[in-house]
Parts: sequence; structure tokens; C-alpha cells
Amino acid sequence: MDPHIDSPTTGSTSDLPETFQHTQKIDFSKPVQASNLKDKSIVVTGGARGLGGGSVTAFAEAGAWVTILDINEENGNALAKSLTDKGHHVQFCKTDTTSFESQMSAFKSAIHFSPRKTIDVVLASAGLGGTNIGNWLDKVTALHASVDPEPPTTTTLDVNLTAVYYTAHLALYYFKQTAKPYETVDKHLLFISSLAGYVALHQLGDYCASKYGVRGLWRTLRYSPRILGENMPLFRTNLICPTFIKTDMTTTIVEALGGYGIAMGEVEDVVAGIMRASCDDSIRGRAIAIAARDKVPGDKNFDICDDWEGLDGGREVLGKVRDSTIWGLEIVGNEAGQVRKDKYDGHVSELLTRDGKGGVAEVEQQESDTGV
Ligand SMILES: NC(=O)c1ccc[n+]([C@@H]2O[C@H](COP(=O)([O-])OP(=O)(O)OC[C@H]3O[C@@H](n4cnc5c(N)ncnc54)[C@H](O)[C@@H]3O)[C@@H](O)[C@H]2O)c1
Repeated sequence: MDPHIDSPTTGSTSDLPETFQHTQKIDFSKPVQASNLKDKSIVVTGGARGLGGGSVTAFAEAGAWVTILDINEENGNALAKSLTDKGHHVQFCKTDTTSFESQMSAFKSAIHFSPRKTIDVVLASAGLGGTNIGNWLDKVTALHASVDPEPPTTTTLDVNLTAVYYTAHLALYYFKQTAKPYETVDKHLLFISSLAGYVALHQLGDYCASKYGVRGLWRTLRYSPRILGENMPLFRTNLICPTFIKTDMTTTIVEALGGYGIAMGEVEDVVAGIMRASCDDSIRGRAIAIAARDKVPGDKNFDICDDWEGLDGGREVLGKVRDSTIWGLEIVGNEAGQVRKDKYDGHVSELLTRDGKGGVAEVEQQESDTGV
């Protein structure tokens, strides 16, 4: 077993294949040392706003050299300018992440921009909401007998999965190509999946497939600290899995979710998780759940234990659904027609029905062009 993959804390799995090994659980009581990012070169896809934008700001304030890759030119330029005006090192590269060439040219620009002509951290945050399967299927009737179906839109899969695969490919390529032998700074690839990569949002097929897919991609890379080669910097990768977060992606469902008492997180809760994973190089191959805070940003975030010991995250996620820390994902677009909240906490007997008056159906409808 590689020394950078720690021994299991219980039971012995060291004689089993990689799949059954795991790394140390995250210690959330450790202070986050933002100064560890000083002069690091960081690429953020989807960095013009939302979770990516919040991360760009935190990275820049920590002294990193940040390149924003985003299709939104107006927001990207405005964020880069406001941070540069404050003396930080930020540039914007207009990028469509679904184009490999577009991403490649932005990665090259990030290398050129950075003081050590390299890239140290890549955060893949660009993403879109999902499409509700039920909404289009409801429109199919016998009248359509003579009409062939249109192909479904794959835009969400293109941006949330294929483009993230391009990002991972380019990150590994440029980590390796620009690294120097015996360099001690490790290279970090940070994916944003979602708790929808653990708890399915009913009928949001493209969104959930993409988020489970990103999780799968992360799992294939996470125990490969020496993937960049002998004597080259160590590689690590982590997964960020937010609950519902207040950003432009979720503005249309804020009210409906609030109606159920579902707590939404803030960008700062996600940034807290991203900064912890980015600044602490003992965090290797871990998945961090982002929950709505109690008092300070990130204070309810937790290690999903997406490993053999944690039953692939099932134990932690179900526990936090039951104690309401991340309650709510399982009702969005629910096919069953009704969900009892008291199923989980035993106290609230409110019955959530699909009544079209702010009930599950409304969340489902609003989810048709959004998601988490
Ligand atoms: N907001 C939530 O509730 C939530 C929860 C879980 C996971 N996530 C995930 O977090 C990530 C960020 O979401 P957000 O809430 O910040 O959304 P957002 O809409 O605020 O930001 C997404 C950014 O991605 C950019 N983008 C979209 N398509 C692109 C493309 N083809 N090329 C380049 N840039 C592109 C947008 O321009 C935008 O700046 C997404 O992957 C999302 O799925 C969000």
C-alpha cells in the first residue's frame, strides 16, 4: 500500500485491492491555513459567479494567482477587475468548457500568468441545472402516434460531465508537464459533485447522472498519489458535495424549498469546504458534504466517508438526512406522490402532497430548468 494512503482505522484491508483501501477522515477542528495558497497557481472553471466565484475570491485573498474560466464574459471580467483593483492576481479567460480547445487555451494562459509557470490547483465548478423527465413525458399523448421523438437535450451532461472530464484530463496533463522533479508542492484537483451524487433528485436524470458520474471519475483517481510519475509532485483529489445552496442556479426554487423548512446553504459554506480541502494537503481522496451552517460558515460540513468503512457514504448521508442536517433532497421531484417528513424525525407530522399548491409538484416544475 502506498504510504500516502493510510492504514484503515478498523479492520485490515491492506491486503485487498485499491477499491477497499481508504485515507484518513478529515479533521474539521484543524484551523484552515489560507497562507498555504500564497503564490499557488489556480484554475477555476465556472469561476465568474456562484460557488466558483466565491472560491476565486477566497483563493485570490489568500495570495494565489487565479485564472477564471467561464462562458459568462460580463461576470468574469467584472470579478477579475474588482479583485485586481484590490491588488490581487486574477485574470479572466472566456471559455466554453464543453470545447476542449477552449479549455486548453485557457489552461495555457493560466500557466503563462503564474509566477512559477505552472498550475497547482484546479477547481471544476462550471455547471448547469437539470431537466425533469416527467415534464416532457407528460406532454406525450396518443396524438403523437405519427411523430418520432425528438432527441433529448444533453447540454447538462455536456457541461457537468463531459466538460469536467476534459478539465480533469487537462489538469493531469499540465500538472505533469509543468512540474519539476523533487518539487514539494503537491497538485490538487477538486471536483464539485453534489449531494445529488448520493441522494437522487427524482426524475432529474441528466443532473443526477452527471453528479454521480463526477463522483465516479473522482473515485478512479483518488488513490493515485504518484500518478504524475516517479520523483514528481504528489497528486491529490477531493470531492465537494453541496446541499441546496443559494446561487443563481437555485433562485427559482428558494421559496418552494423554504416552504418545507429545507435549509439552504450559502456560498460561504461551500467556500469553507473548498478552502479546507485546498489548504490542508493531508486531505486526500475525501468527499466533503456541504450543509447549511448553524453559526459560522462551514460548521455543519462533514466527511461523507465515501469509502469501504463508510459503506460508500451511505451511513453518513443517511444519518445526516435522519437528523435533518441535509434533509430535503429526497423530496424534490418525488415520484411517489407524497412524502412524510415525520418518516425521518418522528416529530413533525406534516404531510407533503403533490397538490399543485406549493407542494412537491411545484418544486418538481421549478426544477425543470434548475437543480443542485
Ligand atoms: N447551487 C447549488 O445548490 C448547488 C448544489 C450542489 C452542487 N452545485 C454545483 O456547483 C457548481 C456551481 O454551481 P453554482 O450554484 O455556482 O451555479 P451558478 O449558475 O451560479 O454558476 C455556474 C457558473 O458556471 C458557468 N458555466 C456554465 N456553463 C459553462 C460552460 N459551458 N463553460 C464555462 N462556464 C460555464 C456559468 O456561466 C456560471 O458562471 C455546479 O457544478 C453545480 O452543479 C450547486
